[in-house]
Amino acid sequence: MEQLLFINACVRGERSRTLKLARRFLDRWQQAHPDGAVTEVDLCKDRPVPQYPEVLAERDELWNAGKLDDPMFDLAHQFAAADRIVVAAPFWDLSFPAILKIYLERISVTNITFGYDEQGNNVGLCKAGKLLLITTRGGNFSLPETAWMEMGARQLEALCAMYGIDSFQCLAAEGLDDIRNDKEAILAEAMGRADAMAEVF
Ligand SMILES: Cc1cc2nc3c(=O)[nH]c(=O)nc-3n(C[C@H](O)[C@H](O)[C@H](O)COP(=O)(O)O)c2cc1C
Repeated sequence: MEQLLFINACVRGERSRTLKLARRFLDRWQQAHPDGAVTEVDLCKDRPVPQYPEVLAERDELWNAGKLDDPMFDLAHQFAAADRIVVAAPFWDLSFPAILKIYLERISVTNITFGYDEQGNNVGLCKAGKLLLITTRGGNFSLPETAWMEMGARQLEALCAMYGIDSFQCLAAEGLDDIRNDKEAILAEAMGRADAMAEVF
């Protein structure tokens, strides 16, 4: 049975357009993969604590003692074990909400999600072959003159390389806050892409 891990960083909850797009993708994925199981981590509910000094100190102590089975590392183990990963996050301040960054810091644990070989080279330890970022953006950051400013998808893509996740994909609906655009049409087109991507994810 395929385990799909859904990381929900949609701060506006059920009002979120990103979450609507993600739910559409997940519904279609479940239809196409009836034996698959979706597990959701809702970052607004679970609220992992930022790595303040005392949190980092505790984590270092546990790690140095080899206690990688401590609950502190549960999120990292869950991420490492998933077959498929979907992250839903709106485009905020050219990347994504801080709650997602906190989560990424939590799961980036040496010898759980990534490690190093005897030569000191990075080795990814995650099982997932694919990670999909689902996002919506107020502006359009896929244009030649704006793409360089986009730092959410690019950060996740780089992290996938570190975690050993071979395929990074991004489903984005863009220009949703531009008064010149037809928002409904943009979202409808993205929903169609969600359907097509879910079939083969
Ligand atoms: C705190 C905040 C920061 C945002 N930053 C950007 C930004 O840097 N660039 C942009 O194009 N849109 C930005 N937006 C607009 C959102 O990307 C856009 O409205 C998106 O569709 C919101 O997703 P949601 O409906 O899932 O919450 C921002 C919105 C918020 C609330």
